[in-house]
Amino acid sequence: MKRETSPDGLGGARQPDGLSGEILVRQAAMNDIGLIQNMARIIWADTYAGYISQEEQTRVLAHSYSSESLMKSVNENVFLLAEVSGEAAGYIDMGRQDEVLHLHRLYVMPNFQRIGLGRRLLEEAIALAKKLSTGSFPGNDTNASPKVVVATVEEGNLKARRFYKKMGFTEEGSTTMTVQGVELPLVFIVMRLF
Ligand SMILES: CC(C)(COP(=O)(O)OP(=O)(O)OC[C@H]1O[C@@H](n2cnc3c(N)ncnc32)[C@H](O)[C@@H]1OP(=O)(O)O)[C@@H](O)C(=O)NCCC(=O)NCCS
Repeated sequence: MKRETSPDGLGGARQPDGLSGEILVRQAAMNDIGLIQNMARIIWADTYAGYISQEEQTRVLAHSYSSESLMKSVNENVFLLAEVSGEAAGYIDMGRQDEVLHLHRLYVMPNFQRIGLGRRLLEEAIALAKKLSTGSFPGNDTNASPKVVVATVEEGNLKARRFYKKMGFTEEGSTTMTVQGVELPLVFIVMRLF
């Protein structure tokens, strides 16, 4: 489904970042799928080096970032891309089910980390998800505002765990998921919205 951009900074507003470029946050489109797959490969290699082998990353990415899976996400979820001076810098994919926002993916390119993009993508995705009419998300049958954001983070991904803690998430349990034969120990994280 195609959504109109909101007037509060999405889809066109530009503002200076902490370095020298300009940040643009916009909605992802079908023709961004190759770009997203390329970013995912680079960010995964950097983030999971040391504990998910390259071969395992390739296997999981082929599954979780297949064009089909991304098309579905771009169509059904809040899926935003960040660009810095025209260069692809990160993305967020957030779905909604009733009063729960599901943060599926939040990834910032290594050379653009720690300049506020992760925070901005998260805040804009939540703001947009709150404004969307309830019928916009398949499976969302309530008029109530979302009350909580939930996600999982790789147990060994301490960088992301620190980021999420700073953003106001709390860690509430753990699990292990097996994707394409690769065991991923995960921590559940939750942020309550007020
Ligand atoms: C985790 C990630 C999304 C954070 O994005 P980012 O753009 O680097 O983070 P920001 O610059 O917006 O930082 C926001 C806040 O978190 C804090 N933070 C970010 N990374 C941190 C780190 N490695 N250690 C401690 N604090 C950190 C920042 O200090 C900042 O706080 P402040 O605003 O009070 O200064 C990014 O590092 C990333 O994409 N990592 C690789 C992929 C990944 O792990 N994704 C999550 C998968 S579940």
